Amino acid sequence: MNAIEQAKSFIEAKTGIKPEIGLVLGSGLGVLAEEVEQAVAIPYEQIPHFTKSTVEGHKGQLVIGTLRGKAVVVMQGRFHYYEGHSLEAVTFPIRVMKAIGVSKIVVTNAAGGINFDYRPGDLMLIADHINFTFRNPLIGPNDDSLGVRFPDMSEAYSKRLRALAKEVAAELKIPLREGVYVGLLGPSYETPAEIRMLRTLGGDAVGMSTVPEVIVARHAGLEVLGISCISNVAAGILEQPLSHEEVIETTERVKSTFLSLVQEIVGRM
Ligand code: HPA
Repeated sequence: MNAIEQAKSFIEAKTGIKPEIGLVLGSGLGVLAEEVEQAVAIPYEQIPHFTKSTVEGHKGQLVIGTLRGKAVVVMQGRFHYYEGHSLEAVTFPIRVMKAIGVSKIVVTNAAGGINFDYRPGDLMLIADHINFTFRNPLIGPNDDSLGVRFPDMSEAYSKRLRALAKEVAAELKIPLREGVYVGLLGPSYETPAEIRMLRTLGGDAVGMSTVPEVIVARHAGLEVLGISCISNVAAGILEQPLSHEEVIETTERVKSTFLSLVQEIVGRM
């Protein structure tokens, strides 16, 4: 609790803006932070108890300001378990967002398309997730002041916000898929056999983030919206290897659509 309070005080001393919406931007999707007005950017390494993000395509700063008139706090780059951080460190920024007044978050990521209908560049609303990391950030003694011991996950991704996202996408004529995100640890990509298994188990997209953050967000009582950018088809579907370059290239290509969609949603949240 002390760590959260320290990060909170540090951030609050930097800006008078009280964010109500938090955004977590995934690989290649950090450009959204550049749209923030009255922006105050704080590099993660300056914030007490934050760790450094080490992945290419992730900038590593918190941006606080307004987006479409809403007070927001944006994570430009996130922490992943595969970087060697503890799940506590990975999810710490979510705790801090809650502490500074956030009640709703938008989590975004780049993901591989498991569903045969998905193409690179598609955007997918996360309807639900499967925690295939077999880790949980809430393991350990529960701090009742942060949330309940056994948080409900039956509506991890808010029905209300999903309906809003679909409405906005339809108005902007942006095609939007809806599916199940499977979170794995990484950092190696999946094998074709693993992808076949995940498809059989009900997965539509696969990635290496989001699940721990959403578990902590729900524990903290935050309303969650999740959007995946399908950056590549998952392993084994095409006769070609997967690469981080392809992931970044695709997110780069869909950037303007992604920006319009998320900004309009935020404006109406
Ligand atoms: N698998 C896992 N994580 C990913 C992928 C993928 O195919 N694409 C982007 N992140």
